[in-house]
Amino acid sequence: MTTESENPDKSSPLKKGADAYRDPSWWYDIRGFFILMGTYQVMIWTHLAFFAKNLGERHLEAAIGSGTFLALTLFTKKITGGRLPEEIIGIDYAERMLKGAKKLFKNSKNIHLVQADLGNINYPDDYFDSVNIAHSFHAFPEPDKVLKELHRVMKPTAHLYVDVLLTPRGGCFRQAIATRVNRFCFKKGILARTCDPETTKAQFESNHFNVINSYIKGNTFHIIAAKS
Ligand SMILES: C[S@@+](CC[C@H](N)C(=O)[O-])C[C@H]1O[C@@H](n2cnc3c(N)ncnc32)[C@H](O)[C@@H]1O
Repeated sequence: MTTESENPDKSSPLKKGADAYRDPSWWYDIRGFFILMGTYQVMIWTHLAFFAKNLGERHLEAAIGSGTFLALTLFTKKITGGRLPEEIIGIDYAERMLKGAKKLFKNSKNIHLVQADLGNINYPDDYFDSVNIAHSFHAFPEPDKVLKELHRVMKPTAHLYVDVLLTPRGGCFRQAIATRVNRFCFKKGILARTCDPETTKAQFESNHFNVINSYIKGNTFHIIAAKS
């Protein structure tokens, strides 16, 4: 594993977003599991099966966080008999999160971790075979800037897999739980917005993505997109 750091400018508006993830990564992982159940209302293996389908030869894990979810995604791919990527780049702007990822992947020579803003990716055009954004799109302070950059660095044949947190839906009880958990996440600054499927799809299309497939499970909108 190698690491690289582009420390965000202290006065940057993104600094606030990165600061929201200053808790230790092990605590993030435990809390994240309950957030997943309470607000996304999708079982973790459903998420893992989704993202494990999109691991190309040169893979970008956008907003890798503590790395635990990527490690589980790679494990899922391995036990289902698929080919693992030759090279993985994990980008995140939160130092604390990356610290956890560095520890986790310290023996993985093909995983390169970069502390940077996804709105400004220091990789060439048409570079990646696959990009996953897991549990993060709704946390991006500037989602259009990120989509524009991802579009630039993706190969024309690459796919982008994303799970987007929707405004709570379903029965009263389910909605009440999700609303409560979301309130906590907004307060912590780890959630920027909840989304609705039509606007999100239009947002991808206006950033020159072709939404190949999309579906809803629980409060989660799954998107599979390619460059249009
Ligand atoms: C909810 S966490 C998800 C992390 C990981 N993908 C997972 O599933 O556990 C969201 C992550 O997005 C990162 N993030 C948000 N906006 C970002 C940006 N513009 N550039 C880089 N990282 C960003 C945060 O630092 C945080 O680690």
